[in-house]
Amino acid sequence: MCGIVGYTGPRQAYPVIIKGLKRLEYRGYDSSGVALWRNHKIDLYKKKGKVADLEEIMIGKDVSSNLGIGHTRWATHGEPSDRNAHPHLSASGRFAMIHNGIIENYAQIKNELVKKGYNFLSDTDTEVLLNFVEDIQKNNNCSLEEALRIALKRVSGAYCILLIDSEDPETIIAARKGSPLVIGIGKGEHFLASDASPFIEYTKEVVYVNDYELAIVKPDELILKNLGNEKITPYVQKLDMELAAIEKGGYDHFMLKEIFEQPSTIYDCLRGRLDAAAGMIRMSGISENIDKLINAPRIIIIACGTSWHAGLVAEYIIEELCRIPVEVEYASEFRYRNPIVHPGDVIIAISQSGETADTLVALEKAKENGAFIFGVVNAVGSSIARISHAGAYTHAGPEIGVASTKAFTGQLAVLMMMALKIAQEKNTISKERYQMLLNELADVPEKVDAILKNATLIKDIAETYKDAKDFLFLGRGYSFPVALEGALKLKEISYIHAEGYPAAEMKHGPIALVDAKLPVVFIATSDSYHEKIVSNMQEIKARKGRIISIITDGDSVTPTLSNHHFTIPPANELIAPILNVIPLQLLAYYIGVLRGVDVDKPRNLAKSVTVE
Ligand code: AGP
Ligand code: GLU
Repeated sequence: MCGIVGYTGPRQAYPVIIKGLKRLEYRGYDSSGVALWRNHKIDLYKKKGKVADLEEIMIGKDVSSNLGIGHTRWATHGEPSDRNAHPHLSASGRFAMIHNGIIENYAQIKNELVKKGYNFLSDTDTEVLLNFVEDIQKNNNCSLEEALRIALKRVSGAYCILLIDSEDPETIIAARKGSPLVIGIGKGEHFLASDASPFIEYTKEVVYVNDYELAIVKPDELILKNLGNEKITPYVQKLDMELAAIEKGGYDHFMLKEIFEQPSTIYDCLRGRLDAAAGMIRMSGISENIDKLINAPRIIIIACGTSWHAGLVAEYIIEELCRIPVEVEYASEFRYRNPIVHPGDVIIAISQSGETADTLVALEKAKENGAFIFGVVNAVGSSIARISHAGAYTHAGPEIGVASTKAFTGQLAVLMMMALKIAQEKNTISKERYQMLLNELADVPEKVDAILKNATLIKDIAETYKDAKDFLFLGRGYSFPVALEGALKLKEISYIHAEGYPAAEMKHGPIALVDAKLPVVFIATSDSYHEKIVSNMQEIKARKGRIISIITDGDSVTPTLSNHHFTIPPANELIAPILNVIPLQLLAYYIGVLRGVDVDKPRNLAKSVTVE
C-alpha cells in the first residue's frame, strides 16, 4: 500500500498535495515525495521518513505550480531510502511517476532495459515501469498515453500510477489495476488520490477508476479509457463520508478494516509466489538457501506475541511436512538465557514491525553463534529484515491497529509456503499431498471472504458474552496456537482475562475454573483431533461451562454440545489456522467495541515494542 495524491487546476498544487499525503500516511510512511511541473521541467523533492521530514526539506523552496503529484511509500521493492522514494524521474528527466502496488515481472523488463543502456537510480520496480514507458514512447514516437497503454499490456502485478510530462503543463495520466484510485471532480480542477481523504473539503463528487482503466486528467477535462483505447463514460458519485471515516475505508476502526482486508492481503502475500496450477512455489529467499534449510539439524523460531503464535503453528507444520525438529522461543527469554545455538542451525524470525527489540537482540545473539537467519517480516527494510541473511515479506501493507490481524494471517501464509517448498525439496512430502495443500492454500482468500460475510453472527455472540470476567480458548494440534491467539486478541482488545490452552490439558488443573459463568471457546473444526476435542467439550459441558465453538460447515455433532457455534468452510487441518483465527479476531473486536474500548489503541500497548 502507499498513498498517492495528484492535482491539476488553478490552485497551488503543493499545499493540496502535502496535506493530502499527511492524511494518507496510514497507508505507508517509509518515505514521501512530490513532483511539481514548473517552467517546462519537473521539480522533484523526496525524503526517507514521514511527510513531516519532507516538509522540512521543502522550507524555502519555490513550489509555485498548478500541477503536481505526491506519494507516501510502503516499500515492496527496495528498502526505505531517499533514492527509493517516489516520485521517480525517467532516464531523460522528461516524465515523473508515482506508483502504488507491485510490478511482478519488473526484473525481466529491467534486464531488457539495461541491455539497451538504461541505468537505474533506485531498486524499485516503479522506476523500471517508468523507463519502460519512456522507452516505448521514444521508440514509437507516440503519446505518453499510448506508451503507457502499450506498457501496461506487458506488465503483470498491481498498480495505481500517476504520470506527468515536463512538456505538458496541465495533464496527469493515471492507470489502475488492483490498487485504488479515486478522482475528485472540482470546478475547473481535478484531484486524484488513493482515497478521497486528501480532497474531501474541495469536492464530494468522485469517480472511482476501475481495473484496466486509464484516466487523462486536465483541469477542465477528464477522459476515461480502457487499455483498448475505447472511451468510457465516467460514473460520477457523491461521497457521503466524512474525513475520519474515509481514512478507515468506511469502517469504524482500523482493526475492523484490517480484518476485512485479509482476503486481499493474503492474496497479495501469495501472489507471484504460489502457482497452484503449475504446482510451484517461487520464493527466492528459500531457493537460494535451500541447502541450509533442508540440511538444518533444527530450526529455532524466535518471535513475540502474535508472531510467536504464528511460529507455533509453523512448528507443527514444519515438523509434519519437513521432518526437521523445530523449537519456538519467546525472543525475550531466548536473549537472556544462555541458549545453545550451533552454526548450521536455522533461525526463523517472525515480526510484523521488524523492529521488536527483544526479537532483534535475540537474533543478533543467534547470528553471533553462526546461525542462518531467515526473516518473515511485514515492514520492508526494517531492522529485522536487514539483519536477516534472507527472508520473505508478508506484503500485508501497513497494519495500523495495535492488535495484529492481517499480519498474522500473512505470516501463516508465508510459513505454509516455506514448509511446502522445503518439504518438496527434501522429498518428505508426496506429490499428491503437496498439490492438495497448494490448492487449499490458493483457496484461502476466497474462504476468508466467505467467513467475513457472516461477521454479524459473531457480533451476536459478542453481545451475549461481553460482560464475562474470564474466557478460556481451547484447541488441539494446529488449532492450539490459534486458541492462544484468540485469547491474546480478547485480552488486548477488551481487557477481559482470557487464557488459551491445549484442550486436553484442561484435566490437569484448569478445569477447576469451569462453572456456569465461564465462556469456553473451542476451535473444533473437522480434523484428525476432532473426536478428542468433542470429548473435551463433553467434559466442559458436564460442568456447565458455556461453550462457543468454531466448527466446520456440515458438522452436526458439535452444535449439540455448544451454546453458540460459528461455522467455517472445510479446510485441511494444516491450512485451517488461517481460517479459524478470523472469527476469533472478530469476537475480540466486537466485544472490545461493546465494552467501549479504543480498539485501535488499547491501553498500555504499543504497535511496535521497540523497548525491552
Ligand atoms: C499482537 O496483537 C500484539 N500487538 C503484539 O503481541 C505483537 O504481536 C508483538 O509485539 C510482536 O510484534 P512484531 O510482530 O512487530 O514483532
Ligand atoms: N512497489 C513500489 C515500491 O516498492 C510501490 C510500493 C508502494 O505501493 O508504496 O516502491
